[in-house]
Amino acid sequence: TVFDCTILELPKISMDSGSITSINNKIDIPFNVERVYYLYDVPAGVERGGHAHRNLYQLIIPIAGSFDIVLSDSKHRRTFSINRPNYGLLIIPGIWRELNNFSSGSICIVLASAAYDENDYIRSYEEFLNIKSKI
Ligand code: TYD
Repeated sequence: TVFDCTILELPKISMDSGSITSINNKIDIPFNVERVYYLYDVPAGVERGGHAHRNLYQLIIPIAGSFDIVLSDSKHRRTFSINRPNYGLLIIPGIWRELNNFSSGSICIVLASAAYDENDYIRSYEEFLNIKSKI
């Protein structure tokens, strides 16, 4: 459910000269990272996401700026506003997500448990509800 999607605190090394957050595969996050991608140049007012994944785990981190993530498991909704580069939202498989309210210049980095595969997407909310009603 959406209650299994949680904010993970990532290690932060703070120095007078700035900060470092490093993410060690399988140590700092609960899945094996096979892909990294990032969203940037997102125009104001745009909504991203609007799909679920069948098997993919993701950790979504606001490397710069802020945005909101709305999650649904068909029964419950949760909204997360994230704006710190050392906190990420873990999204488990089977969760519908929408991303919006991107601040100007924001960058959303995503660590994912598998390579890109269009067959892993559920892009219709109707189909999502259908699949959920059969579980
Ligand atoms: P999509 O995941 O739907 O974007 P978002 O959830 O951020 O709104 O992907 C948008 C397009 O980019 C879609 O045509 C597939 C393509 N894409 C790739 O080719 N590789 C990737 O790793 C990702 C995430 C998307």
